Amino acid sequence: PRQAGTGVTWQSAAVTREQRPGRGATIWLTGLPGSGKSTVAVELERRLVALGRSAYLLDGDNLRHGLNSDLGFSPRDRAENVRRAGEVAALFADAGVVAVVSLISPYRAGREEVRALHERAGLPFVEVHVDTPLEVCEARDPKGLYARARAGELPGFTGVDDLYEPPSAPELVLRPDDGDPATLAANVLAFLER
Ligand code: PPS
Repeated sequence: PRQAGTGVTWQSAAVTREQRPGRGATIWLTGLPGSGKSTVAVELERRLVALGRSAYLLDGDNLRHGLNSDLGFSPRDRAENVRRAGEVAALFADAGVVAVVSLISPYRAGREEVRALHERAGLPFVEVHVDTPLEVCEARDPKGLYARARAGELPGFTGVDDLYEPPSAPELVLRPDDGDPATLAANVLAFLER
């Protein structure tokens, strides 16, 4: 519908999803800066590959070096960042790869659009809330960005003066009390196996 009237059509593939090796899915980790989502994502990708699964990490910081290098942190740019990552994840999932996405993705509406995209395509979408409390994220401050934001050097920092909307119905919630990142990644894996 987005392309209606533009002359852009849809080219179908000659290969069905069932004919491709591997069953794809998107595992979407959302949470505050410093919540540990990237660490869990790295460990999850490592474990999936060790099990012989085809998995690929799509980390927000890394995507911002290439595909999303034209985007900043305005609400509009964050929405576009999430939209693009969601489209890429769905392509990976369609190709039979488990896309492990790690992105603050602060707005509920954007994440819901990515979920809907996957549902329309018949692809599994697993939203994982890395629910580390703000105080804990700020105490960790691995990149020193909370300190800079509190000092007024980084306006529009998520959790300080920019919104984070927690998921209302995530498939999985990870809390720091449940264990270290390796344990949390194992919990995600156990969920996927179920
Ligand atoms: S978003 O909101 O989903 O588009 O963000 P994302 O692409 O995941 O990028 C988050 C990382 O960018 C750094 N950074 C900021 N985060 C939040 N707000 C502002 N203003 C900001 N500026 C830079 C920050 O290091 C985030 O890394 P993580 O790994 O989440 O801590």
